[in-house]
Amino acid sequence: MKKILVTGGTGYIGSHTCVELIKQGYLPIIVDNLSNSKENVVDKIEKITGTRPIFYKVDILDEKGLTKVFEQHDIQAVIHFAGLKAVGESVKVPLKYYNNNITGTVNLLEIMKRFNVKNIIFSSSATVYGDPKEVPIKETAPTGGCTNPYGKTKYFIEEILKDLYVSDPTFNIALLRYFNPVGAHESGLIGENPNGIPNNLMPYITQVAIGIRPYLNVFGNDYDTPDGTGVRDYIHVVDLAVGHICALKKLESVTSGVHIYNLGTGIGYSVLDMVKAFSSVLGRPLPYKIVDRRAGDIAKCWADPTKAEKELGFKARFDLRKMCEDSWNFQQKLDE
Ligand code: NAD
Ligand code: UFG
Repeated sequence: MKKILVTGGTGYIGSHTCVELIKQGYLPIIVDNLSNSKENVVDKIEKITGTRPIFYKVDILDEKGLTKVFEQHDIQAVIHFAGLKAVGESVKVPLKYYNNNITGTVNLLEIMKRFNVKNIIFSSSATVYGDPKEVPIKETAPTGGCTNPYGKTKYFIEEILKDLYVSDPTFNIALLRYFNPVGAHESGLIGENPNGIPNNLMPYITQVAIGIRPYLNVFGNDYDTPDGTGVRDYIHVVDLAVGHICALKKLESVTSGVHIYNLGTGIGYSVLDMVKAFSSVLGRPLPYKIVDRRAGDIAKCWADPTKAEKELGFKARFDLRKMCEDSWNFQQKLDE
């Protein structure tokens, strides 16, 4: 079995990707410090797939710990999810974000180089496009106009990886720019369960639906969009996970390079579209209030997904209803 190192593999996107890796015959070697996930996710991945990934509670900043993992396994490729991702928190504690995300990545890359592991898939984000001039966004659009330290770490790491490739053209690098991942595995065993008040729309909606919060705050209805609320490209997390398998196969089919792909559906939905779709799944209206805009939000952001479709054969399969159904199923199972 080909071994794939998955940093951040017990997290939201990482856990779903481990499931798809196992389904495709790979063995995930998970490295996670459990700062934003739980070790029992490993049991859940085993329950879903019948195969137990190998798990190490190791921080990517821990050079010795990470080196041991590379010593123990013949790693074919690294899928690098580990990182801190809360936009608001990153404004308050930027050094924590720069250290964890950037220093952690540099540490990982040094060790990969030492062990001659040259294939890496990096979790980037549509945030690298800043406030896009045009939608849908193509991979050739300018990057770098990020307004918060979290977004900047994604942009800087992309640049670091490009520089690494220039210095060592045997590296084979995929930069995957995710749009807005939502949903959960249909078993309801894995999904996104943020600590504290959710920053993101879908977990907030499911917490309102289950009664943890009274209503959704809709951040502004005066944007230049059809109904005035923000428009985003929501993609089912299982589709996103499959996108990583497509990227891995691409890296297996070429010798080296820096390959950049948007992972989105190409469809933009507004906040009120999301409320409507979720209410229909719920069978009752979801309570919401229109409040002021949230600082730093952009009006619209959706992908041009054609490059990933042409070059990776990747196309998102799940529609908005399925995204809402699976998010809701996961939230309900959490309470059981
Ligand atoms: P997540 O927080 O659920 O998963 C990240 C995992 O990394 C967690 O399990 C955490 O414990 C682990 N981790 C963090 N720092 C670590 C360290 N120093 N050493 C070892 N493990 C560490 O987040 P997610 O939503 O699954 O996101 C995965 C990646 O995708 C992140 O890099 C994130 O920035 C990126 N991304 C996420 C989104 C999104 O909306 N969810 C959008 C674009 C990009
Ligand atoms: N929104 C609300 N109320 C909420 C939460 C969100 O109205 O309680 C709105 C936002 O204003 C926005 C939309 O819902 O219009 C989506 O907001 P999210 O916070 O779910 O997602 P963002 O697009 O703001 O950000 C996400 C990730 C970032 C990533 C970015 C681009 O959180 O990490 O997508 O990929 F950088």
